[in-house]
Amino acid sequence: MATGPVFWRAAAARCGLTVRELEPAIGVEIGGIDLAALEDPEITAILRGAVVERTLLLVRGQRHLTPAGFLGFAARFGRDFDLHSRRDLCLADHHEIFVVGNAMENGKAVGAPKVGLNWHTDHYHLEHAALFTFLHAIAIPPVAGETKYANGIAAFEALPEATRSRITGLKVRHSRARLYRALFPDASEEQCQAEAARFPDVIHPLVRTHPESGRRGLYLGGEWGSEIIGLPEAESAVLFAELLAHMTQPEFVHEHHWQPGDVLMSDNRCSLHRATEWDEGKYSRRLHRLILLDDRRPE
Ligand code: SIN
Repeated sequence: MATGPVFWRAAAARCGLTVRELEPAIGVEIGGIDLAALEDPEITAILRGAVVERTLLLVRGQRHLTPAGFLGFAARFGRDFDLHSRRDLCLADHHEIFVVGNAMENGKAVGAPKVGLNWHTDHYHLEHAALFTFLHAIAIPPVAGETKYANGIAAFEALPEATRSRITGLKVRHSRARLYRALFPDASEEQCQAEAARFPDVIHPLVRTHPESGRRGLYLGGEWGSEIIGLPEAESAVLFAELLAHMTQPEFVHEHHWQPGDVLMSDNRCSLHRATEWDEGKYSRRLHRLILLDDRRPE
């Protein structure tokens, strides 16, 4: 089956799907699909072509998608799902589905409200980092609680040539232990050491080549757990901060205003995302999350 931008756009038109760009540099919405009933491999190939080219794919109106249907849809793109160690925050019938938000059931919190309030790529601290993340909106506050996505390929391509040459070949150390200390400032030294032992630091390239599109993009990891290596410490911190500020400028970002039934699929090989706060005292927010892990290391 042919692949590439021309293929998926032409095929989408042929299949009667609507295509709408979310922002000039990132995101596409495809309409006319019922994900619960998706069986046609051509539609799967269209969706994959779309997310690879646009980094972020939105399908709206999936209010009737069950957890099993959501899992079945995501499984069309891979098999290696992350199984979160907080089993209590995953659905009872589906360990793969992690619940994000302040949802309550029978007076008990069933999700994790404080997730992703910093720019990050999912599971950047693993040798085989995340491939795609899928979010399904179940309950959404009427205001705030948006999710922001930034495109690392568009950001890299917009850098001056001198900067691109300077940073190509640099490496980034990603440390779960460092992230853990930032996430849990009250954690004991023993807990931090245990986390470091479970997840040793990994090193990935700062500029990676997308294995499907062949385009190069920034791969920063996460603002709380990553540091550029091979440079003096202060220089490394300044460069990381400059690249993060560059990549998260509005021109490379889509800020997603959720509606119940939205499904977002993001390509972690070339993007950062972050959650934003909402009024947890007043409103309920619940997203179901699936993360597919990559079978390749970033290169
Ligand atoms: C996440 O980063 O997994 C959560 C995103 C969100 O809650 O908006």
